[in-house]
Amino acid sequence: MPSVLITGATSGFGKAAAQRFAQAGWSLILTGRRKERLDALEKELAAKVPVLTLALDVRDSDAVARELGNLPDAFLPLTCLINNAGLALAPEPAQKVALEDWHTMIDTNVTGLVNVTHAALPLLLEHGAGASILNLGSVAGQWPYPGGHVYGATKAFVQQFGYNLRCDLLGTGVRVTDLAPGMAETEFTLVRTKGNQAASDALYSGTTPLQAEDIAEQLFYLATLPAHININRLEIMPVRQAWSPFAVDRDA
Ligand SMILES: NC(=O)c1ccc[n+]([C@@H]2O[C@H](COP(=O)([O-])OP(=O)(O)OC[C@H]3O[C@@H](n4cnc5c(N)ncnc54)[C@H](OP(=O)(O)O)[C@@H]3O)[C@@H](O)[C@H]2O)c1
Repeated sequence: MPSVLITGATSGFGKAAAQRFAQAGWSLILTGRRKERLDALEKELAAKVPVLTLALDVRDSDAVARELGNLPDAFLPLTCLINNAGLALAPEPAQKVALEDWHTMIDTNVTGLVNVTHAALPLLLEHGAGASILNLGSVAGQWPYPGGHVYGATKAFVQQFGYNLRCDLLGTGVRVTDLAPGMAETEFTLVRTKGNQAASDALYSGTTPLQAEDIAEQLFYLATLPAHININRLEIMPVRQAWSPFAVDRDA
């Protein structure tokens, strides 16, 4: 039975991915900080497939190494790692952002992602051909926008880290993909605005954003491609989202 480790399975893409992979009979290792949500997801899915929940913060390298170093044999070798846990904070301009918010994004999206990858690599290498690392990047990793500052930079890291991993994993059969979504309706904006539901609703209203299930479907597609195929980067936007012209500062 194939197995998938999903970070950030308590909400959004991660939760939808857990449901999608369960539907196809994969064993699930689900992580996130909110234990009550993990418990609810386990209750929902454990009748279909084996589910292991690990309440942990990806920023805690010791906890990540300890938990992933002690996975039950039934979940090994690991077929797929979905590095999904992440967040954006501080949509305001860089010059107005609290330094702590920048640190939280770097600690989670960069340090947390490498903590999990480092601990999971031996488990994926044991699987070899057909194993995958699917990293949640973002359009923000490639395209700059106002208020993107450190968030976009962390996602550029995710892209380049994935490409570099591919070089080192050549010959092992383990694949690496940077899955880079555009606007998607999850709890992402609620987190970014520190709980401003009205701002979150306003961002997604009057348009057709991607849904968590759209991304889950792409994750499942990537994880089940024939073993000789590696998609390096997959960028997905809603049809109703595109780029803007360059901004130019002019004399008044
Ligand atoms: N929605 C979008 O428009 C969009 C677009 C491009 C890329 N992305 C990326 O997609 C990924 C998932 O985002 P989403 O839209 O699904 O947002 P979401 O609904 O807010 O889910 C984020 C998940 O990450 C987990 N998480 C955050 N910090 C964590 C930490 N320190 N340790 C462990 N888990 C942590 C959260 O779980 P707990 O709070 O329970 O820990 C939650 O399960 C993120 O990497 C995000 O940057 C999102």
